[in-house]
Amino acid sequence: MRRILIVGNWKMHLNASQASLLVHRLSERIKIHRDIEVVLAPSMLLIQPLSLQIDRRKFRLAAQNAYFKDEGAYTGEVSFTMLQELVHYALIGHSERRHVFNENLGLIRDKVAASVRNNITPILCVGETKDEKQAKETSRVLHDQLISALSDLTANEVSAMVIAYEPVWAISNGANYANHEVAKPDEVAKAVQVIRHNIFELYGKKASEEVRVLYGGSSNSQNARAYLEIDGVDGLLPGGASLNYHEFSAMVNAADKMLNDRKGIDE
Ligand code: PGA
Repeated sequence: MRRILIVGNWKMHLNASQASLLVHRLSERIKIHRDIEVVLAPSMLLIQPLSLQIDRRKFRLAAQNAYFKDEGAYTGEVSFTMLQELVHYALIGHSERRHVFNENLGLIRDKVAASVRNNITPILCVGETKDEKQAKETSRVLHDQLISALSDLTANEVSAMVIAYEPVWAISNGANYANHEVAKPDEVAKAVQVIRHNIFELYGKKASEEVRVLYGGSSNSQNARAYLEIDGVDGLLPGGASLNYHEFSAMVNAADKMLNDRKGIDE
């Protein structure tokens, strides 16, 4: 069985004391789960101190970004090599990296390869913009983003990684937090099917069944269960909701409750 993964993307929020308080509050509310992995993606600056603070049985850390060269004259960058002992995961290709920082397909492919080379599991984010959705190009966009990002990997490496479906139009930001479109579960189901089908075609059955696929874009405690119930979805990647300890711990609890309900049905 694929383990459920809930990843909080803090984006460019929280200073050291705010982050430490949030982790403290989350530890009080989140217990150790065998079948659920809880991951926090703080800013680069906080990864080192938080790696000392967290209870590693409860939380793992993810980087929000890193550079694909292992070392060298790249002013301002941090490499996957430098993050090796500190994080389990790295977000790669988040839509804000693609659109605000102009990261192109080639750079994202190199970052995915660097992450794998340095034993950090990539969480590759893919998803279409609103215009692409309206032009009915979702499947093509997902195909193009996947084929290029994964082109340096073997089938086994793809099996072990994580892909997050994040439709750009459903991601909240400061300006549209309250009023923007939310993805319907059947839209997410379709996109996740497209993703797994692409993995099947490119890397075979085993990889398509083993790769974990998350949903991200305005997920919160209210809609967590509906997204988690979708066939082929293995977890969530909340941004805004991960900054609020009530919300984030309620999302983990929703996953726990779903697993318990399923166990009840099987017994
Ligand atoms: P959101 O962000 O949950 O605030 O929409 C998700 C993301 O960008 O990863």
